[in-house]
Amino acid sequence: MAQKLAFRYLLAIQYRILRRSQLRRTFLFVLRAGSPLVRSLLASVTLLAVAIAAPVAAGQKVALFIDVSKPGPKIDRNLFGQFAEHLGHGVYEGIWVGPDSKIPNTRGIRNDVVAALKALKVPDVRWPGGCFADEYHWRKGIGPQRPVTLNPNWGGVIEPNTFGTNEFMDFLDQIGAEAYLSVNVGSSTPQEAAEWLEYLTTAQPTTLAKERAANGHPAPYKVAFLGIGNESWDCGGNMTPDYYLSQLKIYSRFVRNFNPSQQDKQQMLKIAVGPGGGESRWTEWTDAIMKAYQNHTWSWDMNGLSMHSYTVVKWPPSYASVGFGETEYAQILKSTLEMNDLVEKHSAIMDKYDPEKKVALAVDEWGGWYAPLPGSNPGFLAQQNSLRDAVLAALNLNIFARHADRVRMANIAQMINVLQAMILTDKEKMVLTPTYYVYKMYVPFQDATFVPVSFDAGTYTHGDITLPRVDVIAAKDKAGKLWLAITNVDPNQFAEIELTLAGMNTKSASGETLSASKVDSVNTFDAPNSVVPKPFSAKAQDGKLTLKLAPKSVTVVAVEQ
Ligand code: AHR
Repeated sequence: MAQKLAFRYLLAIQYRILRRSQLRRTFLFVLRAGSPLVRSLLASVTLLAVAIAAPVAAGQKVALFIDVSKPGPKIDRNLFGQFAEHLGHGVYEGIWVGPDSKIPNTRGIRNDVVAALKALKVPDVRWPGGCFADEYHWRKGIGPQRPVTLNPNWGGVIEPNTFGTNEFMDFLDQIGAEAYLSVNVGSSTPQEAAEWLEYLTTAQPTTLAKERAANGHPAPYKVAFLGIGNESWDCGGNMTPDYYLSQLKIYSRFVRNFNPSQQDKQQMLKIAVGPGGGESRWTEWTDAIMKAYQNHTWSWDMNGLSMHSYTVVKWPPSYASVGFGETEYAQILKSTLEMNDLVEKHSAIMDKYDPEKKVALAVDEWGGWYAPLPGSNPGFLAQQNSLRDAVLAALNLNIFARHADRVRMANIAQMINVLQAMILTDKEKMVLTPTYYVYKMYVPFQDATFVPVSFDAGTYTHGDITLPRVDVIAAKDKAGKLWLAITNVDPNQFAEIELTLAGMNTKSASGETLSASKVDSVNTFDAPNSVVPKPFSAKAQDGKLTLKLAPKSVTVVAVEQ
């Protein structure tokens, strides 16, 4: 009886989904054939075929089919990592105001920023660069006397070194994130990097450990990730793959983590410099590093290959970050979707040398890179952050999640006041960006299990640009709850999603949705709530769950079965 009811229910849903489809006749034909079980199976297969094959016109409902019995890989929480470089107001003013500041702080670190970042459950922060890392000398950033130096990469401004190793580790402690340190390969030595790691991680009473204790931290720090160089093919020293490989082997061998708690479990993962694009220069780089990895001996190792890819469209970055229209919205989103091909191209090369996927692809710099804000120092990479960036962030996070077997780390550039930031600050004021809210809404996807979704995205067309109209990922969290993240790319039309869970009823869905009146809507210090998430819920009717999503929106819901 239960089987009969379930079959009828499935049939009803499927018939409704198919009512406008030209496959309806095929569907009716399979229903007439065979036993109820055979018919049920055939009907499911037909539904799946429809979901995959039938083109969806604008405004038409999107049939979403999820089979929770076929889980995929874990969506590593480190896909939601951040990047904080000594650049513009990313660190100074954004994180560090100093203990004497009137801005409320804890040991010099802004309390408002810490509270906002805690809510994102930031898994790791990459620091101190970027290009800055290859000119950084850690000893200048420890102890009571700090030399004042320069930051030639980013505006040639003064680097006070007041935010150094202990301050960074304190900041991580305050927000609950892990350290991803980039060591200087370009203008330093393996010895300097090795001593930095000894200073940070040894529990033995060495001179460096005593210095660390004198600077306020007797216990060894944990360093989860070590980046060996940054863009060594460009700002990191313009090296050839072979030259970089010789450096990688030396740094990998001698820059050790001594923390006793990181010897067997939780070992520090070493990230090698990887590609910065899809052209042959970059595929050759990936090939060279991965080929060497395949033949590596006991004396060196790597656990990740970094990849950098910004959404720029043309160089130098000239797209406005606010005050643009639908054309620039469509152009930027078209460009950002190239991330998918890039990930697949480099993953395919990695598969050749590392079929077991031991080496992660770490997309440790990505995001929208636009023209500097008028009146700002161009070297500070200051830009606004709009609803377009929220959609851009969701589309990229979805790409990473779909490739979660290989992509196990990603760091958006950059956390505060620089490029596609989570947070903007101006003296004592702070505002959360649309990108911040996407990260907050996606928290349930951290370490959740990817669940494949079948749907026909349909198309959104503007001028000569055609993009997928909707994008969806699904995942099951540790408690078994099913989560959906749905992006309606179309800035003009609602998207109606009809959800079918294989072999299960869906009762309701609830969560949050993020949209705004314009594609370039932004949050400002004066109007901080123009783009903020709003509660969203839907209840099944006649056993069918339909989600109606606003134009240009990102929605995350938990599905109740
Ligand atoms: O994020 C800004 C810069 O972009 C980084 O310093 C560098 O690695 C990249 O080119």
